[in-house]
Amino acid sequence: MPRSDEPIKAVRGVRDILPDERAIWRVAEQAAARVAHRFGYREIDTPVIEHQELIERGVGEDADAASKELYRFEDRGGRHLALRPEATAGIVRAYWERGLQQGPQPKRLYLIGAMFRYDRPQKGRYRQFFQFDVEAIGSASPALDVEVIEVARTWLFEVGLSELRLELNTIGDGKCRPAYLKKLRAYYRPFKDKLDPDCQRRLETNPLRLLDCKVPQCQPFKAGAPRITDNLCDECEAAWALVLKLLDAAHIEYQLNPYLVRGLDYYTRTVFEIYPAAATGQQDALASGGRYDGLAESEGWNPTPGVGFAGGLDRVTELMTSEGEVVISEPAADVVVIAEGDLVAEAAEVARIARTVSSVAVDYEPRSLARKMGAADKLGARWVALLGAEEAKRRVVRLKNMASGDQGEVSWDELPERLA
Ligand code: HAM
Repeated sequence: MPRSDEPIKAVRGVRDILPDERAIWRVAEQAAARVAHRFGYREIDTPVIEHQELIERGVGEDADAASKELYRFEDRGGRHLALRPEATAGIVRAYWERGLQQGPQPKRLYLIGAMFRYDRPQKGRYRQFFQFDVEAIGSASPALDVEVIEVARTWLFEVGLSELRLELNTIGDGKCRPAYLKKLRAYYRPFKDKLDPDCQRRLETNPLRLLDCKVPQCQPFKAGAPRITDNLCDECEAAWALVLKLLDAAHIEYQLNPYLVRGLDYYTRTVFEIYPAAATGQQDALASGGRYDGLAESEGWNPTPGVGFAGGLDRVTELMTSEGEVVISEPAADVVVIAEGDLVAEAAEVARIARTVSSVAVDYEPRSLARKMGAADKLGARWVALLGAEEAKRRVVRLKNMASGDQGEVSWDELPERLA
């Protein structure tokens, strides 16, 4: 709780994005929307709050994003709700609840919005963060696995991040995975005492996650563990082969990573993560996703295949900034109106006229002319319209070009023409 005698600051792990920073965010968001449209994806928005059960059943009760990290609360009506930790569960709900299963399939959808996870805050990891989420729902075609990977890469390329590493794996499906998990458990059981407490628990609840554990004491056992790629059913095997073939055909480089299993329980078959090429293993992914053919069913809807990914806008904009991407932030206003004394109504009228063609701010502050000129310059204004009592009577302003310093008298009515 903030102490009552201190000013109230932001909640731990969340951030303000200031106007100067918004410029680079806007570049990333606009590129996301542009690329999504280019691939035929349409925008959807779903609520930030969902039933807690939707998240737990979809994402998995044992998954970090659902168990340890979920922002859950009871509303005034006694409903158990959660702030969404990711977008896929909600989009799949909307797909069925709002009738998107009708008409041509798959439905190609994207969403840009805030997600919430009660994670330990650090650089690149926040409690409120933003995702560009892309989903193709209603088709099992492995071509779509490759398509969403291509959407992710194209987006990252367009924001200037082209040195990327794509890591790829398959984790089978409901048909072949149970037998594989049995083998995995049997392999790990003799070492159980040597594993860290989390992995000892995972051995029973979610053995796949043993493979992406980063704790040093668990590492020596990984290399000898059975691999899912050697234990796929025929359908998963065929889908996997086609994904690799299509990636090759598209000249998309990838690294096979047999330990990539992802932190959300709903995945089947293809899973992938995209990292900056220079990143070490511990660093977080810029974008990640995979296929989730069992998700709709776990939410209580009919079985529905789907595949998608989400890119982290916080990480992407941070990398764009650190790689020196220069985004010229728009000036706050092209024109600043500076009026003498109490000519407030007149200054507002000049602004109203100029605003028909330009962005215009009025300096209403009680400060000297020199200070007002300085402020207009800092705002990045291209023009200053100066208004004195005598000029106001004649309905003219002195219009100053801030770059050249030239100035001249212009009637209010001619302003739009001069500024256009
Ligand atoms: P995810 O891997 O949990 O997948 O998150 C996707 C991306 O969101 C990550 O690669 C990362 O860039 C960003 N991200 C995750 N957590 C944080 C955080 N605490 N702070 C900042 N950025 C973060 C999903 O969310 C799946 N729904 C992706 C998906 C869509 N799979 C299929 N369709």
